[in-house]
Amino acid sequence: MNINHDIEKILVSEEEINKRCKELAKVISEEYDGKMPVLICPLKGAVSFFAHLCEQITIPMVYDFIKASSYEGTSSTGIVNISYMPTTKLENRHVIIVEDIIDTGRTLSAVVEELKKQNPASIELACLLDKPSMRKVSIEAKYVGFVIPNEFVVGFGLDYNEEYRNLPYVGVLKPAVYSK
Ligand code: XMP
Ligand code: MG
Repeated sequence: MNINHDIEKILVSEEEINKRCKELAKVISEEYDGKMPVLICPLKGAVSFFAHLCEQITIPMVYDFIKASSYEGTSSTGIVNISYMPTTKLENRHVIIVEDIIDTGRTLSAVVEELKKQNPASIELACLLDKPSMRKVSIEAKYVGFVIPNEFVVGFGLDYNEEYRNLPYVGVLKPAVYSK
């Protein structure tokens, strides 16, 4: 059993991800110098990107976590449930939410609204992957790793039925995997 054999094609390689994480971390380090930002990782999908990005940030910062799940209801609105909130007090802090992927934008939009209640000094978004063609609510990340087409992807934190998060790259599964 080797999970790499379930991958049809690699969309973003390990090398490309590492390079982009360094580039984004450099920009964030410059733009947030002296601001002691709070980077927030939505569990679980963003864990790999979050860790790689934070390791390359060279300024003082703190990090925390949030857990939000989106449910597609029968209506097109979608409901987002937040089951874990950051313990860091965010009032007057500079917050960056570091997400794995922005698809419809509903999850991140709900997370932003929830965190805004604590009156942070600013909130910006970073995402590894952006699927702009899928957007249902208006939300844009300031720091984007890669814009990808509308394909279901796994790896580098992203899962299919909780599997494949540990792949070091982002790829598309072979169709046979879905019929297993
Ligand atoms: P929305 O639509 O609220 O959703 O922006 C973002 C969340 O949906 C999941 N998602 C994916 N997960 N491969 C995945 O493994 C994908 O291609 C994909 N597209 C969306 C993900 O949990 C993300 O946080
Ligand atoms: Mg996610």
